[in-house]
Amino acid sequence: MQNKKKVLVENVKNLVKTEMLSGINEICVPAGNKRKINKSENRITLEEFNKKISTCCNCPLGQTRINFVFGEGSPNAKLMFIGEAPGGDEDKQGRPFVGRAGQLLTKIIEAIGLKREDVFIANIIKCRPPQNRNPLPSEIAACSPYLLKQIELIKPKVICALGKFSAQTLLETETSISRLRGKFYDYHGIKLMPTYHPAYLLRNSSGKKDVWEDMQVIAKELGLKIPG
Ligand code: URA
Repeated sequence: MQNKKKVLVENVKNLVKTEMLSGINEICVPAGNKRKINKSENRITLEEFNKKISTCCNCPLGQTRINFVFGEGSPNAKLMFIGEAPGGDEDKQGRPFVGRAGQLLTKIIEAIGLKREDVFIANIIKCRPPQNRNPLPSEIAACSPYLLKQIELIKPKVICALGKFSAQTLLETETSISRLRGKFYDYHGIKLMPTYHPAYLLRNSSGKKDVWEDMQVIAKELGLKIPG
C-alpha cells in the first residue's frame, strides 16, 4: 500500500512537471473523473515537446541509453501504436520498431493500406532497459506523463497496444493478452485495441491470424478500405 502511494505521488509529480514543460501552469481535474484528452490544451508542437524531453534523466535509464526514443510518425495520426520499450536496434538508431519486430510491424501497417509515416509509433518508456528486461514500475511512472502528453498532442482516434506489457500497463490490468485482444477499451476517451506484439508473432506465427482480425476491426473503425 505504502509503495502504491509512493508510485501515485511520483506519477502526479511527473505529470505536473511534464505539463509545465509544455507551457501549461494550471491543471483543472474534475473530482472523480479520469482526465480527458483535450486538444484546446495544446500549447506546444510534438517536435518541440521531443526537443524539451529528449535529454530526460528522470530515471536511471537516462544514464545507460544511447538514444532517447521519442517515437515517430505523423503528428496528426489517426492510429497510434504503443509497444513496450526500445530494444538494442532502436537504442542505436533513436527510432522505434526498427529491428525484426519493427519490420513486421511495418508490414502489418501496410496490410491495412497505410504507411509507417501515416501512423505514430511509440513505446511505454523511451529508453532501453539494460538487457531488454521489462521496464520497472518506477521507470514507467517517470516516463508515462510523456506518453500521455504525446497522445494528447496527436489525439489519435485509435490506439493499438502491442503486446502483453503495453496492454496491461495502459489498461492497468493483469488480464492476459489473449483475453484482452480483439476488443476496444476506453483509454482517456480514446479507443484502445490490444493485440499481440510483433516480436511474439516472430516466435508464434499462429498468432498472425488473430492480429489480422484485430487490424481489420481497427481499419473498420477508422473507415479504411483494406487493399484487395
Ligand atoms: N519492441 C518494442 O516494444 N518497441 C520497440 O521499439 C522495439 C521492439
